[in-house]
Amino acid sequence: MSIHRPKIEKKVTVATIAKMKGVEPITMITASDALFATLFDGSVEMLLVGDSLNMSFNAAPDTLSADMEMMLYHTKAVCRGAKLALVVFDMPFGSYTDETKALENAVRVYRETEAQAVKIEGGSERAHIIRKLTENSVAVMGHIGLMPQFVRSEGGYKVKGKDAGNIEKLVEDAKAIEAAGAFALVVEGVKSDAAKAVTEAVSIPTIGIGAGPDTDGQVLVWSDMFGFFEAFKPKFVKQYLQGAALIREALATYVDEVKTGKFPDSEHSY
Ligand code: KIV
Repeated sequence: MSIHRPKIEKKVTVATIAKMKGVEPITMITASDALFATLFDGSVEMLLVGDSLNMSFNAAPDTLSADMEMMLYHTKAVCRGAKLALVVFDMPFGSYTDETKALENAVRVYRETEAQAVKIEGGSERAHIIRKLTENSVAVMGHIGLMPQFVRSEGGYKVKGKDAGNIEKLVEDAKAIEAAGAFALVVEGVKSDAAKAVTEAVSIPTIGIGAGPDTDGQVLVWSDMFGFFEAFKPKFVKQYLQGAALIREALATYVDEVKTGKFPDSEHSY
């Protein structure tokens, strides 16, 4: 089996992403540090510093306690590793409750990091916030469908787009976000036919996660797709590596070699 390995040679910009709709599937994964961002850079078009790092990196039960300081810290590190990928900053819960606050925080993102865009969860009711940012030269990625920042207010992670009325609402939300000037839209946890309807309704690229095959691109959380996060595995996650098992195995070998005096040997000593 031959693996398609597109080589990204030029810095990816929001204009690059906009032009990819209908031309080539867009790839995005999350990143939370420079080490992994360096490894991922050059292979995917976008790196998202997602607030899900609050669960994987920080062991919190959900994303809601992530804050600006935490997200800025991780984004600075990711930007140091990402020479080619477009870096998206996930605005944490409570950082965009109104237009003024959203703009103040988005300006901080542009001033304090090299991220090229911010991501905001919410449908038509948040379109005015997206508009405020885009009018002030901030690139925005929308996020509709299952929105992790709504986990407590909705009483769990709810898959969307299950009936005609809900599909219509998702399409309306997507159109409002596009009209507000967003350059791309994450569509999370929705039935495949709903994601297809959304993708066909807008001219900005849709990036799916748990949204089936008909979006313009895909995103996965790096620690899920590489098998490092073991607390739970959503149905839509495909594990491309058994990361946790590999680490445990390698660590057991190290411990065994230290305990038995095999390490360090002459090759690894001065
Ligand atoms: O925080 C995150 O990782 C995200 C993705 C699930 C899209 O928002």
